[in-house]
Amino acid sequence: MTQNKHQKLELTWIGKGEEPKLEPRILIEQPEYSYGDPNSENMLIHGDNLLALKALEQDYSGKIKCIYIDPPYNTGNAFEHYDDGVEHSQWLNLMKPRLVLLRTLLSNNGSIFIQIDDEEQAYLKVLCDEVFGRKNFVNMISVNMKNSAGASGGGEDKRLKKNCEYILIYAKDYSALPIFNSAYEYTEMHEVVERYRADKINWHYTSVLVNEGKKEYIGSTVDGDGNEIKVFLRKNPIIKSIRQVMLDDNISEKEAYYKYSDRIFEAKDAQSSIRIRIIEARNTFSISEDLLSIEYVPRSGRNRGKLYEQFYKGGKCRLVAWLRDIGETIEGVLYKKDLQGTYWNLTSNINNLTKEGGVAFPNGKKPEQLIKRIFEMTTVSGDFILDSFLGSGTTASVAHKMGRRWIGVELGEHAKTHCFSRMKQVVHGEQSGITKAENWKGGGGFKFYSLAPSLLNQDKFGNWVISSEYNAQMLAAATAKQEGFRYLPHEILYWKQGNSSENDYIFTTTQFITVETLDQIHDQMLPGESLMVCCKAFQKECKSKFANITIKKIPQMLLGRCEFGKDDYSLNIVNMPVEEQSEDEAFSDLVIETIIAKPTKKDKRSVQEINKTNSQTSLFD
Ligand SMILES: C[S@@+](CC[C@H](N)C(=O)[O-])C[C@H]1O[C@@H](n2cnc3c(N)ncnc32)[C@H](O)[C@@H]1O
Repeated sequence: MTQNKHQKLELTWIGKGEEPKLEPRILIEQPEYSYGDPNSENMLIHGDNLLALKALEQDYSGKIKCIYIDPPYNTGNAFEHYDDGVEHSQWLNLMKPRLVLLRTLLSNNGSIFIQIDDEEQAYLKVLCDEVFGRKNFVNMISVNMKNSAGASGGGEDKRLKKNCEYILIYAKDYSALPIFNSAYEYTEMHEVVERYRADKINWHYTSVLVNEGKKEYIGSTVDGDGNEIKVFLRKNPIIKSIRQVMLDDNISEKEAYYKYSDRIFEAKDAQSSIRIRIIEARNTFSISEDLLSIEYVPRSGRNRGKLYEQFYKGGKCRLVAWLRDIGETIEGVLYKKDLQGTYWNLTSNINNLTKEGGVAFPNGKKPEQLIKRIFEMTTVSGDFILDSFLGSGTTASVAHKMGRRWIGVELGEHAKTHCFSRMKQVVHGEQSGITKAENWKGGGGFKFYSLAPSLLNQDKFGNWVISSEYNAQMLAAATAKQEGFRYLPHEILYWKQGNSSENDYIFTTTQFITVETLDQIHDQMLPGESLMVCCKAFQKECKSKFANITIKKIPQMLLGRCEFGKDDYSLNIVNMPVEEQSEDEAFSDLVIETIIAKPTKKDKRSVQEINKTNSQTSLFD
């Protein structure tokens, strides 16, 4: 069989590899929707997230610590050609360039969390493996967001009810990803004991080594690597059951667990090479004592390299396993510590979801508690977080209350009706969601932006011209961005509008540039400085007048570089639900469902045509 050397494991789809060359737009502040602290770095962006992410690329590449997105789930209703995979292809075409940009924005030690349902989960996983690298896959969390009674599906449907969603986690670089903060669940130890009892599960940590007894060295043995293991007899130790200490000390069970928290153990029949050596030593030294201890320096495990003491009990040398080793004592209280699993049950947080944030967003709003968990694990105060499918503004609300800096992008009008109004309330100390847990009292602010229109558009003769919507300042900022300069006008020197390095400047003007103008500018330039002049026209002598001044013509200099005049990089897949639902209905389907006129396979209109008949804002539109 011949081997195709280009063969590799990958997902292909219709349109793959035809990613657009995006125009890096500037963002325009809409002061009437900015709120609170005027120096706030928080950004609420109204517009298509593909262009918005491109707009953020210059200033935020490598700066975002955590991204959470909850994109529309591709509910399978919007396309005619469902059977030949067009719909999946379209969805993947929408997602891929967005994920590529999101990856660019992530910091080297950052991570992205993507929430999805079972429709596209597998495809998304493979796509993410391609974009982020399979080695950077961290986990997939299954989130139970509704109890079965409230879930959609079932009944007449042949499928099971959907009550789970999934969150894929990828690191930008797994090797640089820090260990998740507070990735443990703590339960007070006595509560654990009571739970075991209620569930009729045997609880083995019931012995207390009240007194370790007198320590007497009897001899040494060696471990598999030849390292010394010292063996000690324990003369007259005192071992009691929990019940016995309760009686003897006249204390409750809870008090016993508090008082002897570091002395409680279970004697385990643990299989280990060391234990075999100790059993041998027991015979060699003819030990008759019930308790003995050893001292050695383990080569691996969490006590690696440290002198470690271990106890063995009885003729069978059962290992003394301390309760304290499966827990952690915090302020004198022993807690059982369990690493958070990949199953998260959020059903208890769903009860007040409709009311959270004071905005109605029936089929898409996520609980603040869910997002808090994610940011707690991945970020600290002041870190930048991003959500480019902001919906009702949950991510921004949580980030704000947790003291993170945030950027949220939302396409629909709900950027204003929901996100803006929700965040305004948050600045005022809004009371729902995680407010209490975070002791949130209000404060801070945010700036509201929209995307500038395309810099160039075609006139009636099909020629590319500078958009009439651009004023001089916008043009200067946009050209600077196109050329990779930071727009930062100098207070005095009009031609210093931005710089790419300490001595490299840019000047954009619609005026005709003459040799005299260039001479004047050159006179003001300091040794070592260079300048790029972008203008509509110039005297031809200007071209090579000065070695440190480059002169270019707009729009010619920009043509072919990226797609101008294109505002729509989206498709109408699903629509934002606007109808008020009852609480039950709201919980019954968190997956965004289309309420646009649903095309059927027989409907021969295009998706765009169908959506034109619908007056509401569409997602991915
Ligand atoms: C499932 S909702 C997100 C809900 C959000 N997690 C919350 O808790 O409110 C998805 C959101 O993505 C938005 N969206 C879809 N396509 C978009 C695009 N191309 N650019 C920006 N936002 C988009 C939709 O308008 C919708 O509000």
